[in-house]
Amino acid sequence: MSTAKKDYKRITTKSLIDMKANGEKISMLTAYDFTMAKIVDSAGVDVILVGDSASNVMAGHETTLPITLDQMIYHASSVVRAAERALIVVDLPFGSYQSDSKEALRSSIRIMKESGGHAVKLEGGSEIKDSIKKILNAGIPVMGHLGLTPQSIYKFGTYTVRAKEDAEAEKLLDDAKMLERIGCFALVLEKIPAHLAQKVAESISIPVIGIGAGSGVDGQVLVLHDMIGMTHEFSPRFLRRYMNLYEDMTKAIGNYVTDVKSVDFPNANEQY
Ligand code: KIV
Repeated sequence: MSTAKKDYKRITTKSLIDMKANGEKISMLTAYDFTMAKIVDSAGVDVILVGDSASNVMAGHETTLPITLDQMIYHASSVVRAAERALIVVDLPFGSYQSDSKEALRSSIRIMKESGGHAVKLEGGSEIKDSIKKILNAGIPVMGHLGLTPQSIYKFGTYTVRAKEDAEAEKLLDDAKMLERIGCFALVLEKIPAHLAQKVAESISIPVIGIGAGSGVDGQVLVLHDMIGMTHEFSPRFLRRYMNLYEDMTKAIGNYVTDVKSVDFPNANEQY
């Protein structure tokens, strides 16, 4: 259950800004379907991210690049039907906003209209400033995403920690300030040194939500399937597993197979 300082009926972008101002940490998790989103929402998570990590954990792709806008809208509309309290943020997938700002706005409008999500998230800083401004001008809330941006994995070459060098760290701080200035309501920082993440969080008034960015930020996000241990092969240092569902489910399903084969299931009480 939630340990929120103040109970919010429905979390809004303003609630998150208030939480930062009041020193209350923000909890964010991904979800991609109705059943999981219901559980995540009931447990009191403040923000549900319909992340393009669905490309990995739901579709089995190696990267986040293949997932389409139509697929993101399908996932997001399932989550919207489930969540009563959480703010729902939907990732703009690779290829739906990089060409120009008009395309970025068109994609964002489709997400808002067709899924009912409450905000969009885009990866990048100064390179996509015009697109973010155009989306914001249409009244659509935008969450930024800096640091390790998985849609650029083929540019980076690896998933290792970003912004360890001064030049990249300076650009990241400048980008964060720019995102705040133009009107983003929050920012995700992925896999950067903790001291840099803390510096960013202290330099801007909008909430900074970290993944692999230490404890000096305003909130934390994890991929749901990782934190409940469904994806047992992925073990970065920043990941805390709260369950080992891969093992538990494998055991349970194995027991079911045994029961079916031995005609233990169904028993007399489990039939008509
Ligand atoms: O797609 C995703 O799940 C994300 C989080 C890792 C922040 O962007």
